[in-house]
Amino acid sequence: MNFDLEEYRGHWNLDPTVHHINHGSFGAVPTIVRNEQARWSDHIQNNPVQFFMREAMPAVQLARGKVAKFLGQRPDQIALVRNTTEGASTTMRGFPFKPGDEAVVLDHEYGAVTYSVERAVIAAGGSLVEVKIPRLASDGEVLRLVESAFTAKTRMFVVDHVTSATARTFPVQELSDLCRAKGIAIVIDASHVPGNFDLDLDKLDADFWFGNLHKWCSAPLGTGVFRIADRWNDVMRPLIVSWQDHESYPLQWDMLGTVDLSGWLATPTAIDFYANIGWERARKANIARMRYGRDLVMKELGISSDQLREEEIPLGVVPLLKMSGGREGCFALQEKIATEYKIEVPVTTYSDSEQYFMRISGQLYNTASDYEALIPMIRKELK
Ligand SMILES: Cc1ncc(COP(=O)(O)O)c(C=O)c1O
Repeated sequence: MNFDLEEYRGHWNLDPTVHHINHGSFGAVPTIVRNEQARWSDHIQNNPVQFFMREAMPAVQLARGKVAKFLGQRPDQIALVRNTTEGASTTMRGFPFKPGDEAVVLDHEYGAVTYSVERAVIAAGGSLVEVKIPRLASDGEVLRLVESAFTAKTRMFVVDHVTSATARTFPVQELSDLCRAKGIAIVIDASHVPGNFDLDLDKLDADFWFGNLHKWCSAPLGTGVFRIADRWNDVMRPLIVSWQDHESYPLQWDMLGTVDLSGWLATPTAIDFYANIGWERARKANIARMRYGRDLVMKELGISSDQLREEEIPLGVVPLLKMSGGREGCFALQEKIATEYKIEVPVTTYSDSEQYFMRISGQLYNTASDYEALIPMIRKELK
């Protein structure tokens, strides 16, 4: 079995003794991008004063402009941040929650983001409302469940576009339209979105939208994006107060003190890497890899296709036998698979279920053998 674009495998310098089928967690950076980041690091260290005093701001603004263009946005509509966690923390810290307010999250939400919402709304004297969504719920069902959780006190709704533990999408445009109609602020965790979808962020019109470039754009670690709707520009401020504090959005975010800017500056090279291949072709090639691996595992475990929601994303989950042990149990199993079988694949769970899932990623460096390596492991450990 050969996949499209297998000739790109050599563009990554990953440990060849390991099967890497977890691009979704931390990405992996192609050599051309690592070299560009190293070039920026060398340049910065050649004359740090020249760089920070005279070059850094125009360089960051150029990189930000390229990222914004890639996202179909004007440069003044996108701020660069380190990651989704920072986007979420900034939003929650800056949001004007009042006593009695309710913030609604789904039980599929990434834990760190839920903690962020919880801390902010409770500190203001409000409360967190968690809505349970069946893993395979249709988009219509999701909309109904969310709408029925809204009350006159709901101030904010937080949703993943692509979920981490359950690798499903939520209908963000419809949810955004619903929130707008009800006067509720919508926050979209788009961690897995840049690189996987062609976006119309103006139409989506989320109040707050943040995502990662270090996942599916394969940009250097610590590269995230944060979009704030114009109506919030004067309210939202960076978490860190810097010399940029009297600037407006997104300039306030451009340099939060002396930091390593090499990742942001090398990000356009990552975007160009996929643009040169063709985004659509690369996406299809990633999805085909994931589906090959997922279907192999489903067949081996005898799981029928009604246990999956087919999505156009390079992430897929397969339900495993029911196991108790929560997140600790997932980490233990994941570690066992990594150390004993040399396969990096995440084991996830969500909500208060005792269901574990194996989450499979597809990326251009994967070959069929990466997924086939799961079979002997499954026979020994998971049956
Ligand atoms: C849905 C989702 N949200 C947030 C995050 C956090 O991303 P980061 O650690 O880059 O901030 C992740 C990371 O996997 C994620 O999958």
